[in-house]
Amino acid sequence: MSLTEQQIKLIRQSFDLVRPISDDAAALFYRNLFEIDPTLRPLFKDDIRSQGRKLMAMLDAAVKGLERPDTLVPVLEDLARRHIKYGVKTTHFSPVGNALLYTLAEGLGDKFTPDIKAAWIAVLHLVSDVMKAEMNRQISH
Ligand code: HEM
Repeated sequence: MSLTEQQIKLIRQSFDLVRPISDDAAALFYRNLFEIDPTLRPLFKDDIRSQGRKLMAMLDAAVKGLERPDTLVPVLEDLARRHIKYGVKTTHFSPVGNALLYTLAEGLGDKFTPDIKAAWIAVLHLVSDVMKAEMNRQISH
């Protein structure tokens, strides 16, 4: 799955709106995530604030790297290998993706248009597909 130029533009524009409120957005994201799936809470050992910063930094890098999938893919594969050590399973991507979509909807309000939502769903598929494929490769070895 790849993104159109228009979708990349929408992602950039909407992420620019999230950046100034990224601490609040990160806190909201984890609140949403643990509401959707409370069993995920024990996986997170680090404090949620610094964890939120790391997640935002990685999403920022992913958004910037959307036009260069060749450089983005190895970064996501490394990230996926670290996630196996954190106890993350491929089935966890769905609650995480949903929590992110809820957070964007809450954070952006009316500005979270159906086109922007569709573009974020495409990004989440791209990131999760690359990460899950790498996790499956590692697990089957
Ligand atoms: C959507 C794609 C995801 C991105 C971009 C992402 C990003 C990150 C980043 C940047 C870190 C910081 C540590 C590192 O770089 O290795 C991290 C750690 C972590 N992530 Fe993710 N992640 C994703 C999906 C998930 C999923 C599906 C789960 C499952 C619950 C998860 C759970 C964790 C945990 C448990 C840690 C370690 C926290 C700790 O040590 O307390 N992540 N993630």
